[in-house]
Amino acid sequence: MLCRNLLVLFVVSALLVIGCRDRRLPEGDARGGDLAAGRRIFERKCARCHSPRGDGKTVVAGRFPYANLIDGVWRSDGSAEAIEKQIRRGHDPMPSFQGKLTDEEIRQTVVYVLELTGGKRGPRR
Ligand code: HEC
Repeated sequence: MLCRNLLVLFVVSALLVIGCRDRRLPEGDARGGDLAAGRRIFERKCARCHSPRGDGKTVVAGRFPYANLIDGVWRSDGSAEAIEKQIRRGHDPMPSFQGKLTDEEIRQTVVYVLELTGGKRGPRR
């Protein structure tokens, strides 16, 4: 009897897993979702320094040239990896967001920052 219950439980969980996988959004929608989520995170966590437009013209960050994320001038190379690294580790005076944002949130923020910058990359200096 116990065995049968376990079997039923197993089948039900397997069906649940399959059901969830089927409900995954197609790639395009997922990216749109990331952008929207990334924008919300940016406005909550980053805009006070980088401004909602990403130009960095704020009291806090205005005197740091690299706080402007949309002028194509980078301290790093402006790649997704470099942006992710900056978010995780921070760089004085920017705080580290490792542990404050989940990996998923960091990924979504990178998607949004890349969109803000319009893919403008600068040379590594
Ligand atoms: C306390 C203010 C502050 C906050 C909050 C902040 N930043 Fe920054 N950020 C800065 C400053 C100032 C710089 C430029 C400093 C430097 O030279 O690295 C910078 C640099 C960067 C860079 C590197 C630009 C380059 O040239 O390589 C990226 C990317 C970035 N920030 C993204 C973000 C994101 C995304 C968030 C939110 C999760 C965020 N920042 C939150 C102040 C801040």
